[in-house]
Amino acid sequence: MLSRAALRTWAAPSSRLFSSSSPRLTKVAVLGAGGGIGQPLSLLLKSDPLVTSLSLYDIRGAPGVAADVSHVDTASEVIGYSADHLDQALEGAKVIVIPAGVPRKPGMTRDDLFNTNASIVRDLAAAVARVAPTACILVISNPVNSTVPIVAATLEKAGVFDPARLFGVTTLDVVRAARFLAGLSSANPADTAVTVIGGHSGATIVPLLSQASHGKSVQGEAYEKLVHRIQFGGDEVVQAKEGAGSATLSMAYAGAKFANLVLRGLNGEKGVMTPTFVKSPLFADQGVDFFSSNVELGVNGVEKIHPIGELSAEEEKLLAACLPELKKNIEKGKAFVA
Ligand SMILES: NC(=O)c1ccc[n+]([C@@H]2O[C@H](COP(=O)([O-])OP(=O)(O)OC[C@H]3O[C@@H](n4cnc5c(N)ncnc54)[C@H](O)[C@@H]3O)[C@@H](O)[C@H]2O)c1
Repeated sequence: MLSRAALRTWAAPSSRLFSSSSPRLTKVAVLGAGGGIGQPLSLLLKSDPLVTSLSLYDIRGAPGVAADVSHVDTASEVIGYSADHLDQALEGAKVIVIPAGVPRKPGMTRDDLFNTNASIVRDLAAAVARVAPTACILVISNPVNSTVPIVAATLEKAGVFDPARLFGVTTLDVVRAARFLAGLSSANPADTAVTVIGGHSGATIVPLLSQASHGKSVQGEAYEKLVHRIQFGGDEVVQAKEGAGSATLSMAYAGAKFANLVLRGLNGEKGVMTPTFVKSPLFADQGVDFFSSNVELGVNGVEKIHPIGELSAEEEKLLAACLPELKKNIEKGKAFVA
């Protein structure tokens, strides 16, 4: 569970943004709030001072989660919405986080979830297009490499797609990379941040250890093992949970951390940057038009997509393996909506 200090660090709002005379009203909606990720994510968002109103929606159980979370002694109001009240849940939302859908069981890849989750995400995106077309949408539901293009295509069909406001949440890969690298180098994860680019599944996850201060010194077999662990760390959790699901608590932490960064950008804070999977020009000429790299966040969502910088020879190989798989995943998502 997060320490109060950690929560404060994410939020760290400047006093300029939180003058008592003009409080900023930020409604955040969680779609899939009753699930393994949705519940702890809702709790963490309740603890985020940048969230003034929390709207919890699920086809099962959201009013109960809302009643529970609403007793936490922070300022935001919390309302739960049941299955047939999606539109009300979305009304006025500035940020919409989507962890709705089924998780993996042992032996499954994220792509195995496509058949179930594609239609869930498409239908939720259609409702967002109708009710909250200018909201920032943060997609957690897997396979992220395909669900983000599905949301984009659905919004496009409705004539409301703004690439600056759609994000695939790859923060868990960034969180894992920092944690695993810290473990190897006996450092504090706060000092071992790693930029993770590409997508969010297996070989499409490309950690740029050569650009991390403690990462450069990891070589040979240790390097191979670390990269593999960052790419397939999710499998450790799926196996340990023995069929009861995938990462939920660390994912809720990562989702709340990313939502806080988006909110800080929307509130005008400068220099907020993190990797996230967005519509991107970086590899569009190779048919890969969604890609995760360092993105600066601002008042309109995506402010600036940063280039990937210099790669080591190993990272060039990882990127070469990532791109064709990512391209397939993106095309599969687009084809689903076409
Ligand atoms: N991006 C990441 O890094 C990452 C990490 C872990 C898990 N995930 C993904 O997140 C998703 C959720 O995982 P979980 O462990 O919370 O699963 P879960 O089964 O515990 O919860 C999913 C919730 O979604 C709800 N739901 C289903 N259809 C819905 C709909 N149409 N509208 C609203 N809610 C709906 C379910 O009722 C359930 O409460 C999965 O797809 C999983 O693969 C992503």
